[in-house]
Amino acid sequence: MTRSSSTTTAGAALLFAVFLSARCASGSYPRAQNVTWSSVNFKTILTWGPRPSSDYTYTVEYSSLSGDKQRNSHCIRSSLTLCDLSASLTDLDLCYTADVLSTPPLGATTDLTEFPHASSKKFCPLQDTDIGKPDFKLEVSQDKRKTTLYMQDPLTALFKDGRQLNVRDVYADKLMYRVTYRRNKSTGKKVHNSKTSVIELTGLDVGESYCFYVQAYIPSRSTEKQLGEQSSTQCSNDDKKSIFDVYSVGVIAGGIILILAVVGLIIGVTVFCLRRRRSPRNNRKEGEPLNAA
Ligand SMILES: *[C@@H]1O[C@H](CO)[C@@H](O)[C@H](O)[C@H]1NC(C)=O
Ligand SMILES: *[C@@H]1O[C@H](CO)[C@@H](O)[C@H](O)[C@H]1NC(C)=O
Repeated sequence: MTRSSSTTTAGAALLFAVFLSARCASGSYPRAQNVTWSSVNFKTILTWGPRPSSDYTYTVEYSSLSGDKQRNSHCIRSSLTLCDLSASLTDLDLCYTADVLSTPPLGATTDLTEFPHASSKKFCPLQDTDIGKPDFKLEVSQDKRKTTLYMQDPLTALFKDGRQLNVRDVYADKLMYRVTYRRNKSTGKKVHNSKTSVIELTGLDVGESYCFYVQAYIPSRSTEKQLGEQSSTQCSNDDKKSIFDVYSVGVIAGGIILILAVVGLIIGVTVFCLRRRRSPRNNRKEGEPLNAA
């Protein structure tokens, strides 16, 4: 009897424990999924899913690998599934991770101290942000021997002393540009890497049209992160202008008439001279049979 009752008590306790933990699990909020960083030019956004019901919200905590957990005031008990952390990840050299916590609705109280959370991968701004497509101006020198690309260093989402920084400000001499170019009429590509934002190309065929696109190139990064997004393609003008572009129709017509006149004159003079030189011979030839007869 004693034995059986103790088994029953143990069984009931176990059942209760299972029941309790089941209640706990169902009483907590769904865990976030797919916590992902996306970052272009240091505009860094954390996204996740699913959209929350009105029963709960999300709160983001981030920290550098050695630092304390911090929160961004825009991403506390929020119904959104994204958080802009551009201004929060202030030390670009560090690597950060973020947790997305499933938290009670705004204003609601809770006894829970632990919330379900999902963690992001590591994100290191300087190494990992994508560099967006740069803009450039194309200029061919007067003598056609030099083509110059004036790069516009892409702006970042970072500010310092009220000034918006561009990628050159951030990477300084670690930033290079890679120009990929080809003759307009061919597909064979050539590559030129430049340390500066003003890129001079010499040795292109004079008078040919070339097409160019440019990407930021940061050799100090890991291989798959070295090249930025491609700019749009720009082509230089080819210089084999048709004769009608260079001279007006009137000038061409005048030229043709002049040439015809000169040719006519030459023919006229030649014929005249030939006649004069032939005349005595002709007379002689015509006279010969007469003389012989
Ligand atoms: C997470 O990603 C997987 C695979 O891409 C997808 O099937 C799932 O729907 C995503 N979950 C949310 C909540 O977005
Ligand atoms: C380059 O070639 C494309 C077609 O291949 C043509 O549309 C374009 O006008 C050319 N540009 C120049 C500057 O010749």
